Amino acid sequence: MVLLTSSQVSVVLSSGIVVIFTFLLFLSGYILQQKSIQSLHTQIRPQDPIQRHKPPLVEHTPDIRHQTPKRRFGNLQDRIIIQAQLSAKEEAFDWSRLAYAQLVRDHSEVCNALIFFADLKRLRSPVPRLLLFPRNWVEGSDADVLNTALETSKRLLRKASRRYRVILVPVDAVGEQDGSDPSHYSLASIFSLAQYDRVLSFPSPGLVLNSAPLDSILAFSEPSSVAFYPALNTSVALSSLLLVKPSTSIFKALSHIRASNNIPDTHLLSNFFHSAPPLLEVGEKKLYTTAEQLRTAKTFNGTAFLTDTAFLYFHDSEVPGPEFEVPYSDTVKRRPKDDDQGFLWEKMYATYKDRRYNVCGMDLETWPPPYKQEKQHIEKKVTVKKTDL
Ligand SMILES: *[C@@H]1O[C@H](CO)[C@@H](O)[C@H](O)[C@H]1NC(C)=O
Ligand SMILES: *[C@@H]1O[C@H](CO)[C@@H](O)[C@H](O)[C@H]1NC(C)=O
Repeated sequence: MVLLTSSQVSVVLSSGIVVIFTFLLFLSGYILQQKSIQSLHTQIRPQDPIQRHKPPLVEHTPDIRHQTPKRRFGNLQDRIIIQAQLSAKEEAFDWSRLAYAQLVRDHSEVCNALIFFADLKRLRSPVPRLLLFPRNWVEGSDADVLNTALETSKRLLRKASRRYRVILVPVDAVGEQDGSDPSHYSLASIFSLAQYDRVLSFPSPGLVLNSAPLDSILAFSEPSSVAFYPALNTSVALSSLLLVKPSTSIFKALSHIRASNNIPDTHLLSNFFHSAPPLLEVGEKKLYTTAEQLRTAKTFNGTAFLTDTAFLYFHDSEVPGPEFEVPYSDTVKRRPKDDDQGFLWEKMYATYKDRRYNVCGMDLETWPPPYKQEKQHIEKKVTVKKTDL
């Protein structure tokens, strides 16, 4: 028989209490953890791997339907069938015959294309990405000539392929013209990608802010041969999104015209497809905006801008391109008065600057440029009469 002193009893009791409370604490922690894991699961679920293969179907189709109520945006019937099949079979949508394609003609355009591809990858677009570039960059015989612009472009092409999973597509100058002149390359080359059903190309430079609506356009619109958004404006360089249904015969016809008239692509396309329907009707939501529209909009809703805008095209008749470092006093002078608008306007340029640095490893160029870029000759303001074709 062991007699316990009162101090021993209190030690036993208090350690018992400690054990019990520790257990209770553990239990409540465990329950809490399970709960938060569950809620995490439910939060994560909508973005799970299955979704990665068909994001626009699940999340964004209603959006598009909402924003284009009356419109020829693909065939609603088709879309519903695709969705039904998908949910029935749990089978990933086949994106392999759709593509984003950018044509670069000149070394100065490569970084802009890379920025699109980097954004598309970051936004997890499932659509294949193609970069079309002059074949003579890789097959030129001038290997012994030190050409820093060419070296930079080759470095960027390698990065596009490795980092951003871009498919590199060397193209020839159209109509058997001299391949060393950038103006001899044409967007007509996109029509030659006959292994793809539909291809979307962006006006450059720009930023992809939200890829899902663009993925949906690729997945669900069925242009007869080409569609523009917004409608083609022949008084400026090509500034529309271009949705193309590749076709070898159209490619040949366009090449033939380009070979005999070295006209800018805007005129080539507007003359060849004069009755092309618009890709979308411009509804309440603005999928596409230009930097100038963002800067000069009279009524501005920052929330709506951030949720709706899929693509920003850097075009502004009063502001140099985003690749130039503009003196800050000029920026302040042009900055919109509205706080949100001014903030977002500046942020778009800052984002471009950041991409240029992080994606291409390039700084901004000085403004005004030391020499007038020869780039301008690619898309000169030319007035072409229909009879020229
Ligand atoms: C075409 O662009 C010019 C120059 O920016 C502009 O003044 C004109 O309003 C545009 N036309 C259309 C139909 O958008
Ligand atoms: C801004 O847009 C959002 C979403 O489109 C909307 O909910 C909100 O009411 C708008 N705000 C104003 C002030 O119009």
